[in-house]
Amino acid sequence: MEKNITVRKAERSDLDTVLNVYDSSKNNHGKTDVNYVDGAIKQNELGNVSLLVAEVDGKVVGTIKLKRKRAHIGNVGLIAILPEYRRLGIGSLLYKVMIWIFAKEGRIKISDQMTEPNEPMKKFFEKLGFVKEGTLRKHTDSKQDVSLYAYYIDEQGIPEIPQNVSINIKLWKKNADTQ
Ligand SMILES: CC(C)(COP(=O)(O)OP(=O)(O)OC[C@H]1O[C@@H](n2cnc3c(N)ncnc32)[C@H](O)[C@@H]1OP(=O)(O)O)[C@@H](O)C(=O)NCCC(=O)NCCS
Repeated sequence: MEKNITVRKAERSDLDTVLNVYDSSKNNHGKTDVNYVDGAIKQNELGNVSLLVAEVDGKVVGTIKLKRKRAHIGNVGLIAILPEYRRLGIGSLLYKVMIWIFAKEGRIKISDQMTEPNEPMKKFFEKLGFVKEGTLRKHTDSKQDVSLYAYYIDEQGIPEIPQNVSINIKLWKKNADTQ
């Protein structure tokens, strides 16, 4: 049976759930700072689009943070999908919705990075059409390499969102969230 999938902005009542989702991936990005999630939800409440969640049949199973540093570029914060919901296309869906939002805001490029090694994320980027733009060697506190990836909306277009997905996001304010 086809699942009902919704992507929407995280609300205050999602705080603990989102922290749990991030904590389920803490091997990949360390323990999540409550302020990171709290600040993003505050931005959502102000009318910006900062933190998204994906719900499967009403259960929050994934989350992604959107960031904006330059007018023409969208930046990606942390993404995490609950382990038992991985490889179902939810992570790709969150990226596709994020690309759609940044495109609506008039941005032409999405910039992302990943701490090496992370083979699933590398494959994930490749499947979505992100290209590797460079490496920051010995860059993290633990001296791991960081790979830089980009997606060019003006060249590659907006990916198609599957039909069984509802997107419940109002885009009325832009460029205000610079976190
Ligand atoms: C990376 C992550 C976000 C992917 O989410 P997901 O919902 O499982 O990804 P999708 O189902 O959309 O996968 C899309 C494609 O990515 C690649 N991929 C995803 N996970 C993979 C894995 N474990 N091994 C190999 N390829 C993988 C595959 O090509 C996959 O397509 P396929 O299933 O048709 O083969 C998820 O594994 C995760 O939350 N990891 C922990 C957190 C993390 O690493 N975050 C990144 C640092 S911020």
